[in-house]
Amino acid sequence: MYLDYAATTPIHPSVLETMFAVMEQEFGNPSSVHRFGRKARYILDSAKATLATSIGAKENEIIMTSGGSESNNLAIFGVINQLPRNAGKHIITTQIEHASVKEPMSYLETQGFEVTYLAAQADGSICLDVLQQAIRPDTVLLSIMMVNNETGAIMPIKEINALIRKHHPTMIFHTDAVQAYETQNIDVTELGVDLLSTSAHKISGPKGIGFLFKRQGCKIESLVKGGEQEENNRAGTENIAGIAGFACAVKIMQQPENNVVPHIQALRNTFLRGIAGQVAFEVNGSNTNKAPHILNIWFPGIPSNLLVPHLDLAGIAISAGSACSSGSVQLSHVLVSMFGPENPRNTESIRISFGPDLTIADIENATKILVRTILKIQDLSQKEVSL
Ligand SMILES: Cc1ncc(COP(=O)(O)O)c(C=O)c1O
Repeated sequence: MYLDYAATTPIHPSVLETMFAVMEQEFGNPSSVHRFGRKARYILDSAKATLATSIGAKENEIIMTSGGSESNNLAIFGVINQLPRNAGKHIITTQIEHASVKEPMSYLETQGFEVTYLAAQADGSICLDVLQQAIRPDTVLLSIMMVNNETGAIMPIKEINALIRKHHPTMIFHTDAVQAYETQNIDVTELGVDLLSTSAHKISGPKGIGFLFKRQGCKIESLVKGGEQEENNRAGTENIAGIAGFACAVKIMQQPENNVVPHIQALRNTFLRGIAGQVAFEVNGSNTNKAPHILNIWFPGIPSNLLVPHLDLAGIAISAGSACSSGSVQLSHVLVSMFGPENPRNTESIRISFGPDLTIADIENATKILVRTILKIQDLSQKEVSL
């Protein structure tokens, strides 16, 4: 059973159908002026209209990219690379960002920028007072994710915007909304952000496609130089099938009958009920101010590097943190930020993430397997101790 929807989601059958049809029939280059090109352009433009509407943006504010990582890189380096020489050199971000924000920030530190990394509170969110104290006259960019990919914690983007506009109206504000797109209402006017990143494969769309919202008037420099595609913001012939698939996934997500939130909340509650009283556990972070699809749980005394492979053998696919950190022995930078480097939660926590096609019966079954697996690990470690 797949319980790792925050890593990626299975593709929706209608998305596949749409992509096949486009690949088979619409091979034109959207930059060509002949009829083949015009048909591809039509697909591109209508897809962009769908994507723009989904976040309350205008079509010309959408830049197609290869996914969340590229959108984040384009937002950060795009802003920084176009700054005049005498511009400020201070950036604010958090300690809990995805690697595709964290690594660009580390690189910029080697290039003379000073980066303030805000720590997470124990509930997984960021303290607004600490953010306010970090703002300086030379701050040029703020990048804070909307929903954390390891805990599901929601950052108050609208309130953050109000705060920074009061103290520093010209600072550029970027948010990584990759994990927020499916379950949170996103309206860029209401949020006030200048840049916002998304990715299709987290919402039942294809991998390798995403977009960056760039508010009209916000300047960035393209990272990929070449043709004039994407209004000079990203050179290269667009991936029309992927873009059409992304728009199809967004249309499906937006149908009122497909509001996944109540079902996913029910799955999460079923999960917590299923393990309550059976094994010792604590949810990492707030249990309320969070996106419903991600659950980060601490099982005291059960190392996650044992639990994850044991669960895999028992047929349950979950991860110990984000997809990127779960394959390595590195501690989760998110949990370290929330609880400090010495906390046992850092090595004894797992991330479970839910998707709309799971049933309550699936989750009841999963909790039984999880409880059995934990008891087995406890039993094995007790035997080891008594040997
Ligand atoms: C919060 C967040 N940002 C960015 C990304 C990267 O997206 P992509 O895999 O499309 O590059 C992910 C993917 O795990 C994510 O969870």
